[in-house]
Amino acid sequence: MKFFVDTADVAEIRELNELGLLDGVTTNPSLILKSGRRIAEVTREICDIVAGPVSAEVAATDYSGMMKEARTLAMIADNICIKVPLTLDGLKACRAIRAEGRMVNVTLCFSANQALLAAKAGASFISPFIGRIDDAGSDGIELISEIRTIYDNYDFKTEILAASIRTVNHVKQAALIGADVATVPPATLKALVRHPLTDKGLEQFLADWAKSGQTIG
Ligand code: G3P
Repeated sequence: MKFFVDTADVAEIRELNELGLLDGVTTNPSLILKSGRRIAEVTREICDIVAGPVSAEVAATDYSGMMKEARTLAMIADNICIKVPLTLDGLKACRAIRAEGRMVNVTLCFSANQALLAAKAGASFISPFIGRIDDAGSDGIELISEIRTIYDNYDFKTEILAASIRTVNHVKQAALIGADVATVPPATLKALVRHPLTDKGLEQFLADWAKSGQTIG
């Protein structure tokens, strides 16, 4: 399973990349707003840090507007993945951007049929929003499972990118079902390493080692 980080915070991205945890980055208009920076500038900086796909989202909602913005975003770096919304114009733009040789992440997916349409439009990634589905009283992980089955039935190559992840349990469940990628907020990504018994065990080993009076090397 690949890990992307869901943020436009360059300091967090740099730290996670240096830890070797990152296969890519996803951003969206809300995350760009939160960064307080211009989209072109911050996205270029992220692309310089991370070698894998960096999703940058269009803001236009009509086909020609999306294509114009996609071409502008694509000029930022070779590893830009254009993010388009799951609408009819977004799917049309997906086909066209793919035909121009760019990666596309189709975002705001809330149903299996939407994911089927995105795969048929040649999307590189489909982004089902697990957390927002849970918030609305349904089961986000169940959607990932449905999409996995459909994509496997027809051998679609579109990668399932589990998005809107809120908990470490979401990451585990998405991995168990076979999501190809999880895009995870920085704090949740770091929290994956934690276990109280790891801390307790390490504490005990260090105490015993100190008592032994030994050193290594
Ligand atoms: O980037 C899309 C997605 O991960 C958004 O997550 O937490 O705003 O629902 P959230």
